[in-house]
Amino acid sequence: MEPSRDNPMARFSAFWWGLGVILLFFVVLFITRLVTENEAPNPLEEAARLKRLEVRAKVDEDQKSNLTSWTLSEDKSTVKANPEAVFSLVGKQLVASKPTPSTDPAQVVPGSPTAEKLAAAPATDTAAVDDLTPPAGTAPDPAVMEKGKQAFLVCSACHGQNGEGNPVIAPPLAGSEWVAGPVSNLIRIQMRGLEGPITVAGKEYTLPAPMAPMGAASSDEDVAAVLTYVRNSFGNSAPPVTPEQVKMLRSEVGKPALKVADLIPVAP
Ligand code: HEC
Repeated sequence: MEPSRDNPMARFSAFWWGLGVILLFFVVLFITRLVTENEAPNPLEEAARLKRLEVRAKVDEDQKSNLTSWTLSEDKSTVKANPEAVFSLVGKQLVASKPTPSTDPAQVVPGSPTAEKLAAAPATDTAAVDDLTPPAGTAPDPAVMEKGKQAFLVCSACHGQNGEGNPVIAPPLAGSEWVAGPVSNLIRIQMRGLEGPITVAGKEYTLPAPMAPMGAASSDEDVAAVLTYVRNSFGNSAPPVTPEQVKMLRSEVGKPALKVADLIPVAP
């Protein structure tokens, strides 16, 4: 062992030094306390305290008016429901509640008022979106391409790593006239999904499963990036897609899956 630690005198003095430091700490604490004790209360803290009291009083009041439905047990540890009062309270709320119509395509009943309303929704102004497409020859931002490449991993599960498609899963994106065509088509497919049959690069695809709305839950930037990537990879070359364009078509989310007839036709 180290000689200094082995030395009883050194240990003894270390003990008293430690004790001294702790005592000093308490003395400083005590003095601080004395000095600050008589200060006027902080007006902000006081205002917050009064507000807390006010909220508390209101909560107590609300709870009291609700207590007809509930009874406190003798020792106040448990709350017992008063069935009749509870049933009438809950019943009134149920009767007053209205079902919320769902616009989730998976839940819309065909022929229901919601389905009719969705079908009759005003046509989206796709021309305004396509007018914002940068001119032909505009190079994509490399950072956006990198982001799009990451996002494309999901698409590649169906469309293939190089957008080559799969005869029984999804049509190709490489050399697809849809990919090079109007941007509004591509964004709407991301927002609503797509149901075939669809002809891509001269071949008709009638696939067992439609494409799901892949972009509904992604940010405008991510959707724009993945579409920009697809339009500038696998031999494709078309102007980038901007987040503003994606934003303009967010209203498409929730509408039923698109059919090819809903898209702006493209020349093969
Ligand atoms: C679950 C499989 C699946 C995934 C994942 C998927 N798609 Fe699709 N996609 C399809 C199918 C299937 C079609 C054709 C519609 C049909 O036949 O019902 C299609 C069609 C398309 C089309 C139009 C046709 C074409 O080939 O040009 C584009 C563009 C497209 N998808 C882009 C994408 C992008 C971008 C992603 C990733 C964000 C993606 N898809 C993810 C299955 C998928």
